Amino acid sequence: MSKIAIVTGATSGIGRSLVLTLLKNDVVVIGIGRSDDKINQLIDDAKDFYDQHKLFIVKGDLSYHKAIEELSESIIDVLQTNDFKIDYLCHVAGRVTSGYHVSKDYHELTFQVNHLAVVDLTYQLLPYMNVSLKSRILVVSSQSHFRANINFNDLETKTYYTILRSYKRSKLYNVLFVKAFSKKYSEIPIYAIDPALVKTDIGQKNTSKIASFVWNMRSKKGVNPAVPARHMLDVIKDDVFNELSGSYIKFGKPITSNPLTYQDEIIERLWKVSLDMLEIKDFFNKKS
Ligand SMILES: NC(=O)c1ccc[n+]([C@@H]2O[C@H](COP(=O)([O-])OP(=O)(O)OC[C@H]3O[C@@H](n4cnc5c(N)ncnc54)[C@H](OP(=O)(O)O)[C@@H]3O)[C@@H](O)[C@H]2O)c1
Repeated sequence: MSKIAIVTGATSGIGRSLVLTLLKNDVVVIGIGRSDDKINQLIDDAKDFYDQHKLFIVKGDLSYHKAIEELSESIIDVLQTNDFKIDYLCHVAGRVTSGYHVSKDYHELTFQVNHLAVVDLTYQLLPYMNVSLKSRILVVSSQSHFRANINFNDLETKTYYTILRSYKRSKLYNVLFVKAFSKKYSEIPIYAIDPALVKTDIGQKNTSKIASFVWNMRSKKGVNPAVPARHMLDVIKDDVFNELSGSYIKFGKPITSNPLTYQDEIIERLWKVSLDMLEIKDFFNKKS
């Protein structure tokens, strides 16, 4: 029987490539998108799979809690209608943002989409996952996290906000979430993925003219999104990774992450603060 994957950020860049790679490798995909045009484009690109009910699309927004609850209900609907359980939960969606913007939940937007949404969606969907060492949760982080610090008095970069400071911190929080989850719950392996520099439009979507120009120049040196997608498939398929939960993986190999991500006090504190923000009482015992 085919395995089932959820992929956020399915309609562009790395997420879109991951969807196509998984489909070609006999994985049924529930892709999450937020724009009708891009969803239709993905369906066109993977028409055969869509027609054969190997690709499902759920539309939703990851930028505030209520939307994530609604998105989760729609995903659960697809799961239950088709008698599916999730084998692979792949958090790929992310943003970089010029200027300080606040979400409908009053959090800084990059923090909300890149970090809180990962925590929230994992919490919502965990009861619907196959509990197995062959199951996987993947969180796409970034090499920029190496240059990030953490300030618990200013997690959302309200002071001295810059596009990069907020982004790299959110990617550090991704790694800290992976570390916390893996320490608390050993039944499903979880990994932080470093895709390296990838040629995508991420730096052109919510950015100033200058930031967009810089990204345009820089991303030309990046790899094709199919490269990290292929490495993510390896992490998903290879049993070697069963024992490597909590790892930070680059080019299909575990490497050392930012030293802050080995400090238990920091891991635990971010976990607690994030759950408090989302009003989650018992992360591992949500009723399905
Ligand atoms: N490109 C790189 O060099 C690089 C390096 C390190 C890490 N990363 C990480 O890789 C991941 C994918 O990025 P990418 O480079 O492939 O960029 P991308 O093409 O812009 O992909 C980002 C995806 O996230 C989706 N998204 C953003 N905000 C959302 C929201 N509020 N609700 C739902 N979906 C939302 C986007 O939807 P739309 O399709 O509608 O825009 C898009 O599909 C991100 O987490 C990024 O931080 C990228």
